Amino acid sequence: MTQSSSQVRRTFLEFFRSRGHEVIASAPLVPPNDPTLMFTNAGMVQFKDLFTGKEHRPYRRATSSQKCIRISGKHNDLENVGVTARHHTFFEMLGNFSFGDYFKEEAIVSAWELLTKVYGLPEDRLVVTVFGGDNSQGLAPDMEARALWKRVTQFPDERIIDMGMKDNFWQMGDTGPCGPCTEIHFFNGGDVDVSKFHDEPTSDGLGWTELWNLVFMQFERSQGADGAYKLEPLPKPCVDTGAGLERVSSVLQGKTSNYETDLLRALVDLASRLSGKPYTASQADDDVSMRVLADHARTTAFLIAEGVFPEKSAREYVLRRVMRRAIRHGHRLGIKKPFLHELTLQVVALMGDEYPELVQRKELIATVAEQEEVRFRETLDRGLKMLDEAMVLAKPTGIIEGEAAFKLTTPTGFHSI
Ligand code: SER
Repeated sequence: MTQSSSQVRRTFLEFFRSRGHEVIASAPLVPPNDPTLMFTNAGMVQFKDLFTGKEHRPYRRATSSQKCIRISGKHNDLENVGVTARHHTFFEMLGNFSFGDYFKEEAIVSAWELLTKVYGLPEDRLVVTVFGGDNSQGLAPDMEARALWKRVTQFPDERIIDMGMKDNFWQMGDTGPCGPCTEIHFFNGGDVDVSKFHDEPTSDGLGWTELWNLVFMQFERSQGADGAYKLEPLPKPCVDTGAGLERVSSVLQGKTSNYETDLLRALVDLASRLSGKPYTASQADDDVSMRVLADHARTTAFLIAEGVFPEKSAREYVLRRVMRRAIRHGHRLGIKKPFLHELTLQVVALMGDEYPELVQRKELIATVAEQEEVRFRETLDRGLKMLDEAMVLAKPTGIIEGEAAFKLTTPTGFHSI
């Protein structure tokens, strides 16, 4: 069953192309003309105005593999990155979209067919969730989705699980198109246990993991002059789905961690070589750091390729923070000289075929990464020296006095790490 991530991506796009979908290239990570979003955080972002009816295109069905970043705003995964088997700052989202064309039935039937017949996932390792309604918003449970799943999967009721607003009502940000969703989850590990559905997967990825989210776009949320949010129906119901390429590849490659897939393992291995330490795929600090490096190198390479450079404000600040986090983890792994550029070059080697902008800006990516690291290592060394001095003065209480603590947070110290 093992399929490379390139095959997984191609199979997804081909499947929907054969069902009348236009294959659309990934939009940039920096959404053009959208001040509500810092980064593209889902496949639907480039189609936002098609859902709301503000824009029309010659096609009413589309499919894409979209590069995404989730670091800031509503969908923020930063603190989980490297710790869990499945969170990333950068990832690719496979999706199919209907702009007022098909709705719940075709979305559900197609998703099930692709997962179980084409990719060949075992049905007994899957469960689905549906929106269970929310009284405070005046939203009813999605009985239609439940009935469709029952027909398509023949699952008993307990394998079609009701979930609330937080999990099964999707919105891009505080405003924009939104709607109830239904998700498909996969059980990693030994005997399938549906009663464990609400437990978080273990840090090494055992348990239930969401694979695919099918959103039934029915509303637009907007903010009135009084500051209150309201939900209004869209002109036509639409479909927006998203499946993380890393997660689908992981399952199809028989792994429990995305970091074991062909998308990320080579980066982890390079981090291991650079640090001279073995990678043992555990929760040990060194292993977490190597996974952070693998993840953050992808975000760094892709953002620089789009002309975002590490600076002090807005998106540039977010990139700088990610780069400095990576450098700090590299530092704690004992890597003595600049390394981040080497990881970014590995990203180019791994993903350049799919994303030619990486190859075109290869030198720029490496140069910007190295320059930032040289600069930041000086800050880090200075900050660590200040910390050492402050610790000496703090003896024997171990408490750093206010002034010294303040200095550590200034631009000469550790701020913005
Ligand atoms: N927009 C939805 C999500 O991000 C489905 O693509 O999960």
